[in-house]
Amino acid sequence: MEAAHAHEDSHDHAPPSGIVRYLTTTNHKDIGSMYLWFSFTMFLVGGIMALTIRSELFQPGLQLVRPEFFNTMTTLHGLIMVFGAIMPAFVGFANWQIPLMIGAPDMAFPRMNNWSFWLLPPAGMLLIGSLFAPGGGPGAGWTMYAPLTVQQGMGMDLTIFAIHILGMSSIMGSINIVTTILNMRAPGMTLMKMPLFVWTWLITAYLLIAVMPVLAGAVTMTLTDRHFGTHFFNPAGGGDPVMFQHIFWFFGHPEVYIIAIPAFGVVSQVFPAFARKPLFGYASMVYATSSIAILSFLVWAHHMYTVGMPVEAQLYYMFATMLIAVPTGVKVFNWVATIWKGSLTFETPMLFALGFLFLFTLGGFTGLVLSVVPIDVQLHDTYYVVAHFHYVMVAGALFSAFSGVYFWLPKWIGKMYDEKLGKIHFWTSIIFFNVAFFPQHFLGLAGMPRRIPDYSLQFADFNMVSTIGAFGFGISQVFFLYILLKAIKSGEKAPQNPWDGADTLEWTHLPSPAPYHSFEEAPQVK
Ligand code: CU
Repeated sequence: MEAAHAHEDSHDHAPPSGIVRYLTTTNHKDIGSMYLWFSFTMFLVGGIMALTIRSELFQPGLQLVRPEFFNTMTTLHGLIMVFGAIMPAFVGFANWQIPLMIGAPDMAFPRMNNWSFWLLPPAGMLLIGSLFAPGGGPGAGWTMYAPLTVQQGMGMDLTIFAIHILGMSSIMGSINIVTTILNMRAPGMTLMKMPLFVWTWLITAYLLIAVMPVLAGAVTMTLTDRHFGTHFFNPAGGGDPVMFQHIFWFFGHPEVYIIAIPAFGVVSQVFPAFARKPLFGYASMVYATSSIAILSFLVWAHHMYTVGMPVEAQLYYMFATMLIAVPTGVKVFNWVATIWKGSLTFETPMLFALGFLFLFTLGGFTGLVLSVVPIDVQLHDTYYVVAHFHYVMVAGALFSAFSGVYFWLPKWIGKMYDEKLGKIHFWTSIIFFNVAFFPQHFLGLAGMPRRIPDYSLQFADFNMVSTIGAFGFGISQVFFLYILLKAIKSGEKAPQNPWDGADTLEWTHLPSPAPYHSFEEAPQVK
């Protein structure tokens, strides 16, 4: 007996540290942090691409980059921000928060969780590396419409492989999230008692599982059209380039909500905490979010009004799209009702959540404008569209992600960020964001096309303003990095309930176990 015990003890070595720890970790907290740092890195890379675009557009004429390179910048900026920055940020939140919020010891499949994350860096490197491929990077736009993709260099192939890998990562992450939520909730936590952030991720994970394979199919067909003699999107061989757009947007519209719905989840946690009131209309929030998810599958062709579809189809897509404003309106109403007559305070997480509420709603309204067929025919492929989706993606998803980071950081690292610096980050972000993107509405209404490195003289003033705003916004985000590092290095110790929250923050009172390395034995839930 004694000998057997000693033998067992010899296996009881210290968990690995440094890079080996992170390569082999199965701990949801480690993995959540890695997602968030990866996301922030890609955010800076995509941001540098955005500033390259804005620098070229600072004044009319071609000055900084070749037009082909400009096209690769718009393409990779979009792909990197969507798949490399925003989505991994919210998966990082999911990893950190879902087990804590439902009382689970970890995600359901911790080793698959590790694999989901470690697929991302190679995919990111493929995307960035595509710039250096023979024939240059992908220049067909993030939507990769046929037939332009056929004429691209090898960078397009690297991009296609990157998307395959990113898709696998998303699907595995989603299976993990669904399984965790459905099987590992604490006793007594029924579905309708889950924190809303958990609900939004459950819905988002289903969306991801449904549409990522569709995108994979679209890019696989592109790949075989390029190299294996198929003609899926080539009319000369009986194919149809418009079919690519249908398949792409069947993925692409739900993708908008894959980004937006977890953002809804974050602010649905933040508003109650800073209003010291429970969330208004919890059940209607769940039903509204589900309705948005279902409707998101039925409206994809509002991105393609100009391909020459029948008027009946245009009418259907227009009205179906407008229908989404109803559940979205329910959500906005509930958020406003949550903060109504609350004992409000305005720390950085709340400021970013309010910024989200105002500007995401504005982006929603311009979306409604674009849903109207005759208006969209005028505005299609103009800067109005660019302005619209940056209000949704940046002021919507990104501001919500900032809100979540500031909100949960005390929980994650046990330290507080510098509140004064956080507020400076918020105000510089929201001001420069609007300086950068609000004028783009006017540029679009005046007819400036997107994805073109040059423009006529009458667009010069607004473009100059927009570029100045973009650089201000970029510098604010480097400042955000400084705030984070300062908090991690020398932040004050966080109190048990940093936001003096109401009952919706109960989970912050729970001490969470120190990260363990689950290649070793995991702690058992009694
Ligand atoms: Cu859409």
